[in-house]
Amino acid sequence: MSELVQLTRQGPVAIITINNPPVNALSPGVIEGLAERLRQAQAEAGVDAVVVIGAGRTFVAGVDIKEFQRITSGEAPRTDGLLALLPAIESCSKPVVMAIHGNAFGGGLELALAGHYRVAAADAQVGQPEVKLGLIPGAGGTQRLPRLAGVAKALEMCATGNPVSVPEALRAGIIDRVIEGDLLAGAVAFAREVAGKPAVKARDRAGKLGTPQSNAPIFAAAREVAHKKQRGWKAPLAAIELVEAATHLPFEKGLKLEQACFRECLFSEQSKALIHVFFGEREVGKIPDVPKDTPALPVNSVAVVGAGTMGGGIAMVFANAGIPVLLREVDQAALDRGLAGIRKNYATSVERGRFPQQFVDQRLRLITPTLSFDGLAGVDMVVEAVFESMALKKEVFTQLDRVCRPDAILASNTSTLSIDEIASATSRPEAVIGTHFFSPANVMRLLEIVRGQATSRQTIASCMQLAKKLGKVGVLVGNCRGFVGNRMFHPYRREAQFLVEEGATVETVDQALYDFGMAMGPLATGDLAGLDVGWRIRKEHRHLAKPGVRQPLAEDRLCEMGRYGQKTGAGWYRYDEKRRALPDPGVNQMVHKWAAEAGIAQRQIPPEEILDRCIYALVNEGARILEEGIALRAVDIDIIYLNGYGFPAYRGGPMWYADTVGLPKVYERIREFRERHGEQWEPAPLLKQLAESGGTFASFSKPQSAAA
Ligand code: NAI
Repeated sequence: MSELVQLTRQGPVAIITINNPPVNALSPGVIEGLAERLRQAQAEAGVDAVVVIGAGRTFVAGVDIKEFQRITSGEAPRTDGLLALLPAIESCSKPVVMAIHGNAFGGGLELALAGHYRVAAADAQVGQPEVKLGLIPGAGGTQRLPRLAGVAKALEMCATGNPVSVPEALRAGIIDRVIEGDLLAGAVAFAREVAGKPAVKARDRAGKLGTPQSNAPIFAAAREVAHKKQRGWKAPLAAIELVEAATHLPFEKGLKLEQACFRECLFSEQSKALIHVFFGEREVGKIPDVPKDTPALPVNSVAVVGAGTMGGGIAMVFANAGIPVLLREVDQAALDRGLAGIRKNYATSVERGRFPQQFVDQRLRLITPTLSFDGLAGVDMVVEAVFESMALKKEVFTQLDRVCRPDAILASNTSTLSIDEIASATSRPEAVIGTHFFSPANVMRLLEIVRGQATSRQTIASCMQLAKKLGKVGVLVGNCRGFVGNRMFHPYRREAQFLVEEGATVETVDQALYDFGMAMGPLATGDLAGLDVGWRIRKEHRHLAKPGVRQPLAEDRLCEMGRYGQKTGAGWYRYDEKRRALPDPGVNQMVHKWAAEAGIAQRQIPPEEILDRCIYALVNEGARILEEGIALRAVDIDIIYLNGYGFPAYRGGPMWYADTVGLPKVYERIREFRERHGEQWEPAPLLKQLAESGGTFASFSKPQSAAA
């Protein structure tokens, strides 16, 4: 018999213990073990009640997600062991008490819902997080939960996937008692109390299912929230529909519907993409030549140089993680401005109820303003965030090299400049690295960690570890102009502008990308970041432009007119006092006129072309980045795009998306664009190779990359 599930006794109470470390996932063997132990407990004389508990740090954290991949890839058949087990638990003649500590998530909560009672440790959590993987609860969660917790709570849990604390679960009726102290002892005592008393199964309860009248506004509100907050996601809407079904269908019929829906979700592109993202977030932490045991320097104190847009946000990120920060500026006015910005950001968070004023006060106390470099001598790490100028950055790094401890990490937040050149201003290039935060730094999850030629493994390991401590997803990238994210963003935005110059409108271009699922269209994104940023860079690098290769003309002209975007109240759009974008027909007319004067033919452009040109521009550049080893794996690019550029998670990232479209199709389309639009569309050699050999980006790996 499987040792994954054990049976012991304490007087009249049988104790079934699930022991499948690390998280007691319902992997093969566990469900069979549970079924067998339950049969034994039921048959055993003298047993009046049963307790089911998890060994180790948690109850059951869910079904093994790898199992889903094995099913969809055809490697393993779908077993419905859990579906068969749950009614067996419900119909057990002796009351079954589920004892929860740690997490009861997904299948774990569904298992618990089948018990006649649930008791829990006060710090445990319960949840149905399936929607985050593009799935719905597939073992009765959408049917039992509303019967136990009521429609509103079940909707919230099944459609958002967010966990619920035990006190909240107690109020909702999911948990029957909170156990202080030893969980097993408390569960056994509870089991003794309920032994011999009739127990009501969740499936037979109807008191909380509401009426059509009372439910209608609840479902309407849930759908509205799903459309707004999970735009484009299919699973949340499916979960809502199933909870709604629970209110008017008999239990067994509801279960059947849930089953059909679960299967549909499991095989959907969205779920496959979201599972790819789930594993991708773990994968990006693995760096072939920087193993997990590489000694890392603990970062317990930092300095941020520059208190502008980024420096201020970065200081908040450190303070939020409890790390004291010295914030250095050139003069008092700049320092005051920076601190005022930080205070304003925190005040908005308090207003929105994100955290209490007392937290903010604690965090602000961790930020010490300074005008001098002297205090920097003691810190473990410095992040430089001064203006994007190589001369200035070198000057700052020379200073840092002089004052900082020999083992301190010197990081730059540059978005385009060479880490190697910056490192050359110091006597310790091995300690120099790029930490490219995204704007707003205190909100965006992405941290591109840029490895220079000389950056040591210890420095890399320290920054990867630091990213976790800061609550960021750290992705290691190689050193090149724009690194991964901005290097790909450049051709993406170039195509968006070309499309308007060829006759599309600003609104149709942005709408096509928004409908695809991007958080914002490419032109609106330009307005948000400031069109003048790119304009300045282009002016500086104009001499590097390849003659004969088409360059966008519209943004430079808009900048010449003072239209820098949101900050000046106008760019591609006009902005009202609340910074809401309003279409500006004058811009379309102007751009079409400039383009026609420059000899660019005007035509109607279908939305598919808008989408393909923008997204495939990302993919083609991504393929070059992958081939050059600037990104370690295609999934690293995907994670960068999901966390830094608003790419829809349910499409898995640009490289995954290209794989799902099929690389031969993508390659053909890019060849077509090459013929029609010129050499900026030259297909990346890796794309050609993979398209012709039947490969995918996901399966391509270049050993020892993300190096300079
Ligand atoms: P900013 O112009 O808002 O701030 C720069 C600050 O640096 C100013 O307050 C200035 O007084 C200060 N400064 C200049 N020299 C200094 C010195 N020697 N010591 C201390 N402070 C000094 O610039 P922003 O936007 O914060 O950019 C900073 C860096 O972050 C740049 O390298 C930029 O490329 C990069 N970055 C910017 C992003 C953005 O969206 N703004 C996104 C990601 C990276």
